[in-house]
Amino acid sequence: MARILITSGPTRQYLDPVRFLTNASSGQMGCALAAAALAQGHAVVVVSGPVQLEYPPAARLVHVVSTEEMLAACQREFSGCDGLIAAAAPCDYRPQQVAEQKLAKTGQPLLLELIETPDIVATLAVEKRPAQWLVGFALETHERRRRALQKLQKKSCDLIVLNGPQAINADANAVEVLDRHGAVVLAAEGAKASVARQIFELIERSLIRPHGACDS
Ligand code: C5P
Repeated sequence: MARILITSGPTRQYLDPVRFLTNASSGQMGCALAAAALAQGHAVVVVSGPVQLEYPPAARLVHVVSTEEMLAACQREFSGCDGLIAAAAPCDYRPQQVAEQKLAKTGQPLLLELIETPDIVATLAVEKRPAQWLVGFALETHERRRRALQKLQKKSCDLIVLNGPQAINADANAVEVLDRHGAVVLAAEGAKASVARQIFELIERSLIRPHGACDS
């Protein structure tokens, strides 16, 4: 049995008490991966941003809102885990200033200065123990394999799941999974539950039990 940390869903970066930056990630892929891992008898912790769906009750769920909170929760949880599947779509930017009061209209353009949020996978890659494994996701619209491989390398992942914008907030997905050499080790298409099962089988084969060892 492995202990697996899964990040899932979007994050929010508030610019005033009621407005925030986010994206349309639904958390469905993270949810399907959690179900696939649980079905194989593994223990799962899901760190999720705000979503509408319900994660499998057998997963331990940690709710977060911002990318900084997602990072802090992952840093707490990862030391007790064997690997990370980073299916979340955290906001990459946050407003430099967060207004304490609701921003009022002025009739003028509103200029927002945005700064980068921390990268969760890249941070855990630096802090991780050698035996811990990392699987990232890359959503790309062009030069897909090249850009995905760059992300895998930058974030020191063992595998990266490449998908496209059609994956966002959809029931189905089409993915390729690349290894560290850029080889396509899996191509899968269909309902997210089925794609997640195939991704998870690959993770089991190549990262959880790479030598065919079985545990009980
Ligand atoms: O946003 P980007 O394309 O770099 O995301 C690729 C991978 O990095 C995904 O696995 C995503 O969950 C992860 N990520 C992260 N922290 C961020 C942004 C993305 O862990 N701030």
